[in-house]
Amino acid sequence: MRQPLVAGNWKMNGSRASIKVLLDGLKSGVGSVKVAEVAVCAPAIYLPDVQAQLQGTAIAWGGQDLSTEASGAFTGEIAASMLLDFGCKYVIVGHSERREYHQESDLMVAGKFAAARAAGLIPILCVGETLEEREQGITEDVVARQLDAVIKLEGVAALADGVLAYEPVWAIGTGLTATPEQAQDVHAFLRTRVAGHDADVADGLRILYGGSMKPGNAAELLAKADIDGGLIGGASLKAEDFLGICTAANG
Ligand code: PGA
Repeated sequence: MRQPLVAGNWKMNGSRASIKVLLDGLKSGVGSVKVAEVAVCAPAIYLPDVQAQLQGTAIAWGGQDLSTEASGAFTGEIAASMLLDFGCKYVIVGHSERREYHQESDLMVAGKFAAARAAGLIPILCVGETLEEREQGITEDVVARQLDAVIKLEGVAALADGVLAYEPVWAIGTGLTATPEQAQDVHAFLRTRVAGHDADVADGLRILYGGSMKPGNAAELLAKADIDGGLIGGASLKAEDFLGICTAANG
């Protein structure tokens, strides 16, 4: 049985003050989350605050990106070991905003997955097609290419140490959500592709959906057989909304 994971992706939002309010809200409400594992991925500079406030609670935390390199002359970069130093469990790799605005290639994302895994962090690997790619009918080609880059570099067994997130780019921050059927189709495709290499890894792999997931649409998405949680952007910035999604997994 795969335990659902609901992870917040705060992106470049918040302040020390607003994060304190948000985390106070999450801590007081997390007791109502019965099934899902809950995590928040914070801007790196706030991770010490997040650690101080979440240590000893049921909520895990993580980074939003990391370097492919372990240490050295890489100005501005954050190493996996640094995220671990502040208690991170997870790190997002290959978010579409990184792929688009920072020209992260499939190979670079695979390198980040490898760096996270080598350090003992759990990488959350994001894959997803643009609207143009969906309209061209190449959604499966795109997500397969993004997934295969990791399998090629690290081997399929590496996926047992990670989480996959299907995030259609056209649904991110747009208010457009993939229908549960559209999402389930891609999730099933991804799981079948992994199963082509290793059925056990595929069976254990958590595949999250991300893209305008909200309390109002979470339950029907999470009810799908291959949707094992969510990666939540906008709705993770308000405790009530984020907890509403987390409790939707209670069933
Ligand atoms: P959204 O973002 O929930 O604001 O659409 C999801 C994500 O980018 O992870």
